[in-house]
Amino acid sequence: MPEAITLNDGVQIPQLGLGVWQVDDAEATGVVLTAFEAGYRHVDSAQGYANEAGVGRAIAQSGLPRNEIFLTTKLTNQFHKRDDARRATEESLEKLGLDYIDLYLIHWPAVIAHGESYLEAWEVMNKAKAEGLVRSIGVSNFNPDHLDRLLSVSDTVPSVNQVECHPTFAQADLAGELRRRGIALEAWSPLGQAQDLQDPAVAAVARDLGRTSAQVIIRWHLQKGHIVIPKSVTPSRIAENIDVFSFELNDDQLEAVDRLDAGNRIGPDPATATF
Ligand SMILES: NC(=O)c1ccc[n+]([C@@H]2O[C@H](COP(=O)([O-])OP(=O)(O)OC[C@H]3O[C@@H](n4cnc5c(N)ncnc54)[C@H](OP(=O)(O)O)[C@@H]3O)[C@@H](O)[C@H]2O)c1
Repeated sequence: MPEAITLNDGVQIPQLGLGVWQVDDAEATGVVLTAFEAGYRHVDSAQGYANEAGVGRAIAQSGLPRNEIFLTTKLTNQFHKRDDARRATEESLEKLGLDYIDLYLIHWPAVIAHGESYLEAWEVMNKAKAEGLVRSIGVSNFNPDHLDRLLSVSDTVPSVNQVECHPTFAQADLAGELRRRGIALEAWSPLGQAQDLQDPAVAAVARDLGRTSAQVIIRWHLQKGHIVIPKSVTPSRIAENIDVFSFELNDDQLEAVDRLDAGNRIGPDPATATF
């Protein structure tokens, strides 16, 4: 079973969750129910994924107690301004069919498209947390300069920064910076959108352990202390990706994966993203 880690605000998050980017609303219900059956209790959605309603239906249909599920969603870039952010928060709650969101993230700083309006979003998120609509608030795709700016106007240190992170794009400098600030690193595209699964060094470790390449990479994230949210719509892979709590990588195996870091960014660079 996934273990929980404690965020800087005392909230506990299961370290492994299911990502649902590019899973459409109708499909999301079945995928999330499959994940719950496999033992997942943490789902990573976003307003921009247009599947909050489908995820919410799975939560309702699962029969699981609400406090056993950890649900993350993210505020869309166009809604950073005060009134928009508030409305978007209420809409997320309604679509999800929930009274509260466990973790609410600013999806992107989006400075080129929307200036510093992410600072307004942060204000709204703090208020939502104070009102009990959200348990924990954090950011996504923030570089250290975005964090510095946020913390120049707010005393609330984000609990999480969800960033692209996988063996060939390991983000070692940012990880150190986040550790220093007490912000948990949550790894998006943790498998490198399946590209890193092809790496021969990962395959060699998998062979040694009698495991799959995906399990090796997920285990690498867990042992580095990352929160990790692999996405799959395939029932066998959903089960495979959570079957990672009965083995470990040894130091040599961890180092073999560490050596793959090659600056291989797949997604947009937060410093230059124009959306
Ligand atoms: N904050 C952000 O800006 C941001 C950006 C990107 C992603 N995210 C979050 O991070 C989550 C994960 O990232 P991601 O979806 O980009 O990529 P990912 O999890 O690194 O990779 C997903 C891909 O790997 C395949 N896969 C999964 N498990 C596998 C296995 N055991 N064996 C072989 N292939 C496997 C999936 O295929 P099938 O689905 O076909 O099985 C899918 O094609 C997203 O779903 C989303 O929640 C956040």
